[in-house]
Amino acid sequence: HRHLLGIQGLTPPEIVDLLDCANTYVEQSRGPAKKGDLMVGRTVVNLFFENSTRTRTSFELAAKRLGADVINMETATSSLNKGETLIDTAVTLNAMHLDALVVRHPDSGAVQLLSEKVNCSVINGGDGSHEHPTQALLDALTIRRRKGHLDGLTVAICGDVAHSRVARSNIHLLTTMGAEVRVIAPKTLLPSGIEAMGVKAFTDMRAGLADVDIVMMLRLQTERMGGSYIPSIREFFRFFGLDREKLALARPDALIMHPGPMNRGVEIDSVVADDVERSVIREQVEMGVAVRMAVLDRLTRERGSPDARN
Ligand code: CP
Repeated sequence: HRHLLGIQGLTPPEIVDLLDCANTYVEQSRGPAKKGDLMVGRTVVNLFFENSTRTRTSFELAAKRLGADVINMETATSSLNKGETLIDTAVTLNAMHLDALVVRHPDSGAVQLLSEKVNCSVINGGDGSHEHPTQALLDALTIRRRKGHLDGLTVAICGDVAHSRVARSNIHLLTTMGAEVRVIAPKTLLPSGIEAMGVKAFTDMRAGLADVDIVMMLRLQTERMGGSYIPSIREFFRFFGLDREKLALARPDALIMHPGPMNRGVEIDSVVADDVERSVIREQVEMGVAVRMAVLDRLTRERGSPDARN
């Protein structure tokens, strides 16, 4: 593949290859930054039209640890504010002989559209409520390192499933790899027809969490709710927030996951988020750098010599 636009369409061997490659980068991803040379002379541009802490920083770290030059485009101060379109911006950047463009955009499908207009590799850093492929890969790596495998596990994805690209990418990856996926949300936050993605849908946390191996919590993505109903925080926490009592229904060795950013006291109680034995939220962030190194590694090797580019 020339781009990484989503998990949908990746085969099990392709997913395993990315996870195996990421696993080999875990030590190097931790630093102290002993730089690799795979991407020396290559340029990676981060183009983020939405806020990010984890994704943007870890792509920058990953690319630098492979020896690349990295540029972070500030969309707030770019010529996008003078009316230049997304496509013209990408074509302009492409003319500077980039190797990879990491893009986050509020519209589902915008990253794919952009990938059709440029010669460089395009990596989806999250597009609307569509996909966030590197998040699903880092979640899978975290689970695999803790549990040893993905197949046969039962994973509950809980909260605002309707607006979540993280949920969609995780559903594609986990079902492709043989895990059973449940989604648990109030009816208003469950997309209609979600069962067609091969998941079981629940509107009751207590029923959905019974005997699961993994509990993955999602933030209420109010920025994508537009005019639709936004639940009351207190009510949402009472019925759908993960606390000790609800967690007790999962398997005793169930892992607690959250892609971040977390809203403590909304979808997750601090006591659970900070559980030193079962919460792997910080490990997810750590795996993010190794996974992004693996994605850059595979796309760089696919591209071949820098002289062949553009
Ligand atoms: N999980 C995630 O994508 O975090 P950021 O929005 O901080 O990048």
